[in-house]
Amino acid sequence: VLATYLKAPPSGEGSADFPSLRQPLPEGHGLAGRTPMEVMAACNPPEGGSFNNKFVIIGCGTSNHAALVAEYLIELVNIARIPVEVQYASEYRYRKPLVRPGDVLFVVSNSGETSDAVESLRLVRKCTNGQKVLIIGVVNEADSTIAKESDAFISVLAGKEMGVASTKVFSSTILTFTLLAIALGECTKNFTEAHKTALLEAVRALPGSVQEVLDRDTKIFKSHESRLEIGECVLWDIACQNVLANNFIFLGRGFCFPVALEGAMKIKETGLAYIHAEGYPAAEMKHGPIALIDQFMSVVVIAPKCDPSYEKIKSNIEETKARSGNIIAITEYQNDDLETLCQHVIKTPPAHEYTMPLLAVIEMQLLACMMGMLRGNEVDQPRGLQKTITGQ
Ligand code: AGP
Repeated sequence: VLATYLKAPPSGEGSADFPSLRQPLPEGHGLAGRTPMEVMAACNPPEGGSFNNKFVIIGCGTSNHAALVAEYLIELVNIARIPVEVQYASEYRYRKPLVRPGDVLFVVSNSGETSDAVESLRLVRKCTNGQKVLIIGVVNEADSTIAKESDAFISVLAGKEMGVASTKVFSSTILTFTLLAIALGECTKNFTEAHKTALLEAVRALPGSVQEVLDRDTKIFKSHESRLEIGECVLWDIACQNVLANNFIFLGRGFCFPVALEGAMKIKETGLAYIHAEGYPAAEMKHGPIALIDQFMSVVVIAPKCDPSYEKIKSNIEETKARSGNIIAITEYQNDDLETLCQHVIKTPPAHEYTMPLLAVIEMQLLACMMGMLRGNEVDQPRGLQKTITGQ
């Protein structure tokens, strides 16, 4: 994804390039003559002006969670500052979409065939009579219905995903939206040079950090006898100690909130382990879920120090400890604050606040996979699920 969409001249400066979004729209389209990138950039309100246009991003399941990360990224004041609304495609298709000329609809779908997403796209086409609303598909399958029926599409380039549960496509979709946000930041001129350089550096560091996490945490899959010494792989220790758990809560704030939803998804129905799990924004805990916490509740908290609200999430951990919850925290290597508060701490390489979801999610995917293995499940083929949901 990086090599394709991030032009990186030797100076190391780099800018995000999306050729398919830089071709003028054809005659007959209500926005003919303008490029998708220009239409998108125009959704950035003029200084002091009102919010005339917006992005609507729709998707189901894991694609919806990736869309939520995109919402945080694209709305950022120091990147593109474009208003974004995220909807479940499965709800959107039954509503009367409120889109205006100049709005942009993103349809996110790994398969490009999920019927809720396809029908939402067609509904918007019908309501707007094909005019003046730009529809962009974000897909992994470039030959799919959504790619064909959109005005332009972006391929997330994850390669074929064989398992039913979406994993690497989630990461590639987020990375694609990160690069798109960078491209939009350049068009809307909201970026400061320092901010752009920091974000590009963070993006370029990702492949190395992801590899580091995978090398460290996949030892069990390479171990001949499926056996490791205690402490050799923290994730495996956690999976073994929680294999009989019946409930999990996943908590995260900001960019890591959608990752909490995705972690819970992986643990439950698509989640390889068939354990009940819910994801919440950590600050919502006090509005209800806190009542569920006792010594039988496993609580996974994504608590990276790069998050400006770290101290607040640490206090969520303290509240959980006060109720005897079994706490599993995810934070960076250099943070030693959490060992005394949590039963387990999973450490990641350092990352930027905006790229941390891409590291944290791998820990959750692998944890779900290990729990599923320990429970004797078919982790690549969860019961009752298909790769592409084309039914009602
Ligand atoms: C995720 O693990 C599931 N396979 C499911 O939620 C999936 O993300 C959803 O059905 C959407 O599929 P799509 O991205 O192909 O449209």
